[in-house]
Amino acid sequence: MIRRLDRRDFLRLGGTGLAGMALLGSGALAGCGGGGEGGSGGTVTYAEGPDDTGTLKKLLDGFDKKYEGKYKVKYREMPADTQGFFDKLRTELQTGNSDIDVIAGDVIWPAQLASNGWLLDLSERFTKDLQSKFIKGNVESNVYQGKIYGVPFVTGAGLLYYRKDLLEKSDFSKAPKTWDELKQMANKAQEDSGTKFGFVFQGGEYEGGVVNGLEYIWSYGGDVLKGDKVVVDSPEAAEGLATYRSMISDGVTTQAMTTYKEEEAQATFLRGDAVFMRNWSYVYALTSDPAQSEIKPEQVGLSTLPVATEGQEPAGALGATNLYVNATTKNEDAAWALIQYMTAPEQQKMRAIEGARLPVTKRSYKDKELREKVPVIALGEKALKTARPRPVSPYYSDMSLKMAEQFAAVLRGDTRPEQATKTLQSELESIIEQGKNA
Ligand code: GLC
Repeated sequence: MIRRLDRRDFLRLGGTGLAGMALLGSGALAGCGGGGEGGSGGTVTYAEGPDDTGTLKKLLDGFDKKYEGKYKVKYREMPADTQGFFDKLRTELQTGNSDIDVIAGDVIWPAQLASNGWLLDLSERFTKDLQSKFIKGNVESNVYQGKIYGVPFVTGAGLLYYRKDLLEKSDFSKAPKTWDELKQMANKAQEDSGTKFGFVFQGGEYEGGVVNGLEYIWSYGGDVLKGDKVVVDSPEAAEGLATYRSMISDGVTTQAMTTYKEEEAQATFLRGDAVFMRNWSYVYALTSDPAQSEIKPEQVGLSTLPVATEGQEPAGALGATNLYVNATTKNEDAAWALIQYMTAPEQQKMRAIEGARLPVTKRSYKDKELREKVPVIALGEKALKTARPRPVSPYYSDMSLKMAEQFAAVLRGDTRPEQATKTLQSELESIIEQGKNA
């Protein structure tokens, strides 16, 4: 079973010529079955962003020890920013001779990487039976055109963080259920306590800003894609974006949010300078580290993100990492051994407890010790289990740039929401159209 070079392969290979083609061929063969020659041993190169927890080294050392004399893992540090990581990876994979074997990458990548033929189809190894042990949404994020191209590694969801102490002082006893409630509560608590910001989030023009904008659109019942049809030009989507903008125009937060990323929001909240924060689940762990946080875990409450009207399904995004295998790997067996090791219960537990990386196996969520030592697992359980994937498309990275541009323009007040959804509709349609005709 030799994979045919299709039109896309030719386009992709571009100037790389025969050397690239030969490599692509050997990789495609290695991917066909029991691993081929190269699969029987060697060093597996593992690419991930920088680790700020110290647990990645421990994890990888553990693999070397377990497979001593058989396999070894070599770490390649990739950019921390998801777009930077993707661009670097794409440039390498395009040449067909990257030495990376396993990629710990963003949950939004499979469609794009797989449609270019850059990922190994793991359907035979990551069987339905194995899949059933993982959180469903995370598994599904790896599926493209009926095949599975990755294994869940770390999960996370968009959550609402709030200052319990400040809300109580302003006579609020519960987290807000709707965006309107959030705005009222933020304004009052901010005024009563003299806190700098009512609400902080990620409004910068980048992937994080896309996530924030999408969460508002979803929470009003809007969406961006249905299958491969663009549906963003709707009153619901425009209403969602109007609420996004109103966080600034109604004084809940300031224009500073238009440049905020995860780190800025986190630093502001942990300094005690915000009543509410939208951020990923991993931030919770930092509140118990006095070196990083001036507020204590007892002061912090967590809930799913608000929605438009009470009773609606939560609309927080899935922010997660999966493990993918480069289609041209010569170490398929070693790569798979590494993936199995990384996702095994002991390793998932160690990383959750010591590194606040949330586990992806269902049984972790029943583990008493884990629930006790990593409180966000219980506190954020609903959000983690209902987290929504971003649009799945082979053209996601181009679509994301356009969404980032329009969402940020709305937030700044430069573009009206209805104009932004209209513009996006035609921009996204033309990206898909061009992709199909390429
Ligand atoms: C987090 C999420 C990732 C998302 C990114 C946006 O890293 O895990 O899925 O794309 O934030 O900034």
